[in-house]
Amino acid sequence: MKKILIVNGPNLNLLGTREPDKYGQVTLEEIEKKMKEYGKGKNLRLEFFQSNSEGEIIDCIQKKAADINFLIINPGAYTHTSVAIRDTILGVKISTIEVHLSNIYSREEFRRKSLISDIALGVISGFGWYGYLLALDYINFIKEGN
Ligand code: DQA
Repeated sequence: MKKILIVNGPNLNLLGTREPDKYGQVTLEEIEKKMKEYGKGKNLRLEFFQSNSEGEIIDCIQKKAADINFLIINPGAYTHTSVAIRDTILGVKISTIEVHLSNIYSREEFRRKSLISDIALGVISGFGWYGYLLALDYINFIKEGN
């Protein structure tokens, strides 16, 4: 059984209505439903968390770390600023996949720098909500223990 925590950061609770030209029209609830559907019968346990607060994201990752094998995280704007979330991921040593709905490398200069990418297993950016399924698919694909 692979245990996966999916964390979404600030403003991702607004998906569906937030800048749909950049982030699409699918809500976070719908994304989570699609992930649950994908996970059915695949020996994956999924847990979801969203917060607009950096501290709550850190608390959640710390609290769950002992009971998860993978973290899928879209840190939202904290991607570009949070040394603290980076340090948490390093501190708990959980294999992490960074996901972004938009292609952060094709947008404003300040979005091109991620404080998470170099410590992540990999980064998926620019494929909209489907990126979350790609992350899950990769975790499902790799061998147990990796
Ligand atoms: C985002 C990209 C970030 O730059 C932005 O602040 C977000 C969403 C994305 O999913 O494309 O909140 O992480």
